[in-house]
Amino acid sequence: SIVILDFGSQYTQLIARRIREQNVFSVVLPCTASIAEIQAQKPIGLILSGGPCSVYDSDAPPADAKILDLGLPTLGICYGLQFITHHLGGKVRSAPKREYGHAEVSVVDKDLPLFADIPADLSVWMSHGDEAIDLPPGFHLTAKTSNAVAGIANPEKKIWAVQFHPEVHHTKQGTALLRNFLFKLCKAAPDWTPQHFIESTVAAIREKVGDGHAICALSGGVDSSVAAVLVHRAIGDRLTCVFVDNGVLRKNEFFKVQENLRAKLGLNLVAVDASGRFLSKLAGVTDPETKRKIIGREFIEVFDDEAHRILEQSGNLNSEVAWLVQGTLYPDVIESSSVKGPSQTIKSHHNVGGLPETMKLKLIEPLRDLFKDEVRRIGRDLQMPADILERQPFPGPGLAVRILGEITPERVALLQEADDIVVTEIKNAGLYQQIWQSFAVLLPVKSVGVMGDQRTYAYTCAVRAVHSEDGMTADWVPLPYEVLKTISSRIVNEIPGINRVVYDITSKPPGTIEWE
Ligand code: XMP
Repeated sequence: SIVILDFGSQYTQLIARRIREQNVFSVVLPCTASIAEIQAQKPIGLILSGGPCSVYDSDAPPADAKILDLGLPTLGICYGLQFITHHLGGKVRSAPKREYGHAEVSVVDKDLPLFADIPADLSVWMSHGDEAIDLPPGFHLTAKTSNAVAGIANPEKKIWAVQFHPEVHHTKQGTALLRNFLFKLCKAAPDWTPQHFIESTVAAIREKVGDGHAICALSGGVDSSVAAVLVHRAIGDRLTCVFVDNGVLRKNEFFKVQENLRAKLGLNLVAVDASGRFLSKLAGVTDPETKRKIIGREFIEVFDDEAHRILEQSGNLNSEVAWLVQGTLYPDVIESSSVKGPSQTIKSHHNVGGLPETMKLKLIEPLRDLFKDEVRRIGRDLQMPADILERQPFPGPGLAVRILGEITPERVALLQEADDIVVTEIKNAGLYQQIWQSFAVLLPVKSVGVMGDQRTYAYTCAVRAVHSEDGMTADWVPLPYEVLKTISSRIVNEIPGINRVVYDITSKPPGTIEWE
């Protein structure tokens, strides 16, 4: 694999994705990883990421400079270049002028394999406040901007570095540069394909689980479904999937998901209608965090009961051979080992992490090396239906975080109808797959309207649609007026109880995607 050492750049995950897009496996380790941890990955190359610190500051992350003596082909990016410069005897200083955004770079060493088949004038993305001013012994300048170092190399030591960000798509020749690093300098083989992943993962699960039993909480979304299908391939019906109706699913979802999972995917599925139980616990609650906590707690109880029952029936309760399948993705894995400090809790997310504690189940996480788009690619190779793979993300606490104020069965039904219209019209306009999420939110605000000659006094519904890469940041989508018009008139005409529709034009930050 290619090991990427994370010095805290916002682009580190992007480097991993760009490498994997070339069908070469890459892992991200914190820059503080030990030499043994790095070697355990059997690296054929090393990439040092960018980062927010200064190499000469006391708060610089304590990475071991011996990583530069491993003899591995190494590429430093931004902070990576400065790290190499600083630790191998050159000099880095705070630049008189911060460089941020587009920049023009001229290649000085046109024979360098890293720049093979790349024009000598590059348009790149820069984001740094420090610069290298003296190169370490044995290094030469490979590229420059009008006034600063943009690239250095010591081919004998197999170290190359650039000040700009080849992983960012604004750097036009970035992919070509990374390909040169992978295929010319690391001699990587492009063999990390979906088929390879599926075969090796299924074999590994089969070996791990032996003749044991596994259970899995399914939401009908992409991640848990793909995880379940992989495990099902490995151990067949010794995997039992549990799908819980928490009373705040979308319109007809309880039935649609069952059909998809049971009929189309052949999974061994237990569907539990616990909607009454959830809704009675949510009655009268308006505080967003309390809603989330109630749903999280109830879910654990319901799932715990089911898991007990299933494992008891299979004769595996409390045995060594009981497993829990989770759809954990790579960004969660990186996030939890990142060099960045703990961030403030904005919302307490509900997922099935750490479930169920009382049973000491062992974990299977078949997707923990994958990014979301890779999960979809795997799903396609597993021939899973498009309506599962292309589904927009849906939060664990469901419509509860989109019903502001009190959650009653009537208000759930109102939002289910409105949400169904939004999703249907976005699909009709051919926009569903280009948009990260599009949905309706029911507000506790009533306003006056007129229908025919009648005065109405009813609820307001907000429509939200956002573009996002990963849910961390998002831009509101400028939906075509025609689509907004159809959505608005359908909601107001078809749903008694809603007489006004507004469109949410807030990005994240400062807004969040969900309203609660
Ligand atoms: P926010 O509202 O924090 O949402 O901007 C970011 C992304 O996370 C989804 N979301 C959740 N997903 N459990 C989940 O599995 C949750 O509790 C949860 N809350 C928000 C949200 O839909 C968006 O994609």
